[in-house]
Amino acid sequence: MSTPLPGFEDIGRLRRTDARRGAHSLDGARELGGADRPGGAGGLGGREGREPGRSAAAAAELAGRTRREVGPGAVHLPHWLSPAEQRELVSACRDWARGPVPIRHTRLPRGGVMSVQTVCIGWHWQPYAYRRTADDVNGARVAEFPDWMVRLGRRALVDAYQDASAGDDYTPDTALINFYDSAAKLGMHQDREERSSAPVVSLSIGDSCVFRFGNTETRTRPYTDIELASGDLFVFGGPSRFAYHGVPKVYPGTGDPATGLTAGRLNITMRVTGLT
Ligand code: SIN
Ligand code: MN
Repeated sequence: MSTPLPGFEDIGRLRRTDARRGAHSLDGARELGGADRPGGAGGLGGREGREPGRSAAAAAELAGRTRREVGPGAVHLPHWLSPAEQRELVSACRDWARGPVPIRHTRLPRGGVMSVQTVCIGWHWQPYAYRRTADDVNGARVAEFPDWMVRLGRRALVDAYQDASAGDDYTPDTALINFYDSAAKLGMHQDREERSSAPVVSLSIGDSCVFRFGNTETRTRPYTDIELASGDLFVFGGPSRFAYHGVPKVYPGTGDPATGLTAGRLNITMRVTGLT
């Protein structure tokens, strides 16, 4: 399978902003996250930096895209990420996609190759286990899971569950970052390699897709098809934590290049592995 990365075609090339802040380093992401600045305000880590996205949320509300409980513990929150947060995440994902473990199509044990391209942070997911090193790619240890992502995950639970303490005990330690070109799909599966039943926090940027959210027993019906658009948050925990889910379709050309992603869809799922 060829590995075109529409929207990620500048991976490996330094952009001016990357050069300024030091490409290939997570420093930029930490800095953008605001997490390590005194007070920790702004950016991805704090509520204070969310200013530009709220008009998008208002537009979403007008269009009828509002918070929806798809199942017990499964919540869709449209337009949760502001445009600035989406740009920051795209930039951080670009850095991770370059290395230390490059983004790639995952090879499956029976010889298949996933159409989605994936890079992991914190722990490397390889069918069907987590490891610290990417033994199926280049043997390197994956990038650290940054503190600002932990804070982002906690804030996601607070907002999704509308409960100020919902994030208190949540410490995600891995994220799978998936890139979908216009033809990529993800079959129905459970996220079940984690030894924890803590919720999965899913963030989408770029092209919209159909996200199929099913039941915990079978890959088939009953399921609900949801459109996940750029900036949307989806959380599945509680009785829905081990529900089957997948992405049968991406709608090419529906993303806003202002996110920094000129084509394709980026999805980030944060999880708690329960591993040490
Ligand atoms: C996943 O199931 O790991 C990704 C889901 C998505 O791309 O929305
Ligand atoms: Mn999954």
